[in-house]
Amino acid sequence: MEFIKVTNTVQPYVALIQLNRPKELNALSVALMSELRATLQELDADSNVRVIVITGNEKAFAAGADIKQMAGKSAMDMYQLDQFATWDHIKKIKKPIIAAVSGFALGGGCELAMLCDMIIASETAIFGQPEIKIGVIPGAGGTQRLTKAIGKVKAMEMVLTGKFMPADEAEKHGLINRVVPVELYLSEAVKLAAQIAALSPIAVKLAKEVVLRSFETHLEEGLILERKNFYLAFASEDQKEGVAAFIEKRKPNFKGK
Ligand code: HXC
Repeated sequence: MEFIKVTNTVQPYVALIQLNRPKELNALSVALMSELRATLQELDADSNVRVIVITGNEKAFAAGADIKQMAGKSAMDMYQLDQFATWDHIKKIKKPIIAAVSGFALGGGCELAMLCDMIIASETAIFGQPEIKIGVIPGAGGTQRLTKAIGKVKAMEMVLTGKFMPADEAEKHGLINRVVPVELYLSEAVKLAAQIAALSPIAVKLAKEVVLRSFETHLEEGLILERKNFYLAFASEDQKEGVAAFIEKRKPNFKGK
């Protein structure tokens, strides 16, 4: 991998992906996104991994799509390039993904953080959809996920003016889980990942699927899937282990079966 670094077990069952184009503030080039997709798919299939953390560096999570790479492209070039297919694959990852964000999370960088399931941010984190300033609009879900997270008027202001939102405000408006001092953002994200990784990976995947479905469907259909996944959890050995451990007053040992 040229543009990302992967540590398969930064904690038991927790993998860490670091976006690694520091000179370009981790601008999300087509090659970087392709490596990210391939890595996420591998980790999704790896039984030694239960939760994935994606981070950048202290200065930037990612400053957006690679603007230099987009320069001079026609609508047909962009259509043929079909870069959003990569994003569609990432959306299908079944294991939880936590974004550990410090510094800039702009444009595609903000969209990538929002594509993750949870966001832990450093107090220096800055979120924004500044595409309007270069004459385009968000293309990887920003208009939808930002609006669902922080509401119409705040999202509208950010998308129409390109205004940034600092971490404390992002927390206040529900865009992120929490803000921590800059020296802690990664360890806090890994800690959250480790907490989830100690639980039944089957139940975790079933739960993630249903929570995500709430964005895409109406209440009744979401409740039907919830009930199906609830019943399905009873087919796992982990569910038997979890219930037995509770009754026997001991710690469960979940095996992902
Ligand atoms: C390509 C980028 C980049 C980007 C920064 N760089 N952002 N290169 N694409 N999105 C490069 C700069 O050109 C520069 O390279 C180096 O990284 C450092 O950036 P500076 O601008 O010198 O840093 P600074 O002054 O600290 O300003 C930081 C910044 C600014 C505020 C984040 O770089 C900026 O506004 N970047 C663009 C943010 C943006 O508009 N993002 C949305 C992109 S569109 P050199 O070689 O000059 O040193 C998008 C669409 C999403 O994301 C569609 C889905 C994929």
